[in-house]
Amino acid sequence: KTVAVLFGGCSTEYDISLKSAASVIDHLNASKYDLVLIGITKEGAWFRYGGSTEEIRDDRWRAHSSCISSFISPSRDLAGIVELVGTEYRVTPVDVVFPVLHGKNGEDGTVQGLLELAGIPFVGCDTLSSAVCMDKGIASQLVKAAGIDVAQSITVYAEDDLYTAVKEAEPLGFPLFIKPSRSGSSFGITKAYDKLELMNGIQNAFLHDTKVIIEQNITGFEVGCAVLGHGDPMIAEVDEIELQGEFFDYDEKYSLVSSKIHLPARISEEMAAKVRETSKLIYRTLGCTGLARVDMFITEDECIVFNEVNTMPGFTAASRYPNMMRASHISYPELMDQLIQHALA
Ligand code: DAL
Ligand code: MG
Repeated sequence: KTVAVLFGGCSTEYDISLKSAASVIDHLNASKYDLVLIGITKEGAWFRYGGSTEEIRDDRWRAHSSCISSFISPSRDLAGIVELVGTEYRVTPVDVVFPVLHGKNGEDGTVQGLLELAGIPFVGCDTLSSAVCMDKGIASQLVKAAGIDVAQSITVYAEDDLYTAVKEAEPLGFPLFIKPSRSGSSFGITKAYDKLELMNGIQNAFLHDTKVIIEQNITGFEVGCAVLGHGDPMIAEVDEIELQGEFFDYDEKYSLVSSKIHLPARISEEMAAKVRETSKLIYRTLGCTGLARVDMFITEDECIVFNEVNTMPGFTAASRYPNMMRASHISYPELMDQLIQHALA
């Protein structure tokens, strides 16, 4: 099978994607798959790449001489990777695309829509569920309608009056979380302890999105669940984030200097079963079709509260999703095989 791996992307999570994709490429069994690598720059230009995974990981891939302008055509008579050679188009057909892209322009339904239009099977969630999960506000409303607890929140739009927004948010009680509705890896998120921090936080979040969510703080701890497949998906072992700082921000996510991931989570078997059951309900409610990491909180009084769903979670060898799968006896290469099988099913 020919697998096209997409990496990079016009997104704030470009660097994470490079690391995730390098790891995915390293774990795709070379005797089973022919790989076509497509790098997307931060500016959104697509290139076919023929160098090493190390140069992807360190963001040196673009300097490589083997970078050729390429794209995926939505036209089914050109289905595959298209390159302009001289005055002619050269098309490399692919069996499946693995878009290892995080955040905007990759995990948000845009690339998924392009691939659906082109009729090319791909790994991960479809257009609708990718778009829905990318928008924290919309995802949370759907999950709430399914009877699952969510943090109380208000939504602010760029056109709204800032002072009115602050007045409406205050009754939720400090500290408050301010989040761009569509963002990843905690970019643009602030935890605010007073009015001034709240105002600054809202303005900061608007640098990332035109829609901002102000959420009540959930006291407790965060757990995650790796889910794979569709219909009756497989739910892996639950993990837990032990936090030292204020929240699991960008630096902590990728350095784990003071935070710790416990796998399995330090919760009772009964609680773990509940978390897994809730993950499945969330996954199905949001229409997820390939894989996702469902993030939730467990409160002090043992309630499960929805946080968010990542339809293309971090995929480095140290990332939570592959680790949770490994804890459920699915090795990284086996995980790659299963994801591709699901894409082709
Ligand atoms: N958005 C990052 C990649 C994650 O959830 O793992
Ligand atoms: Mg995320």
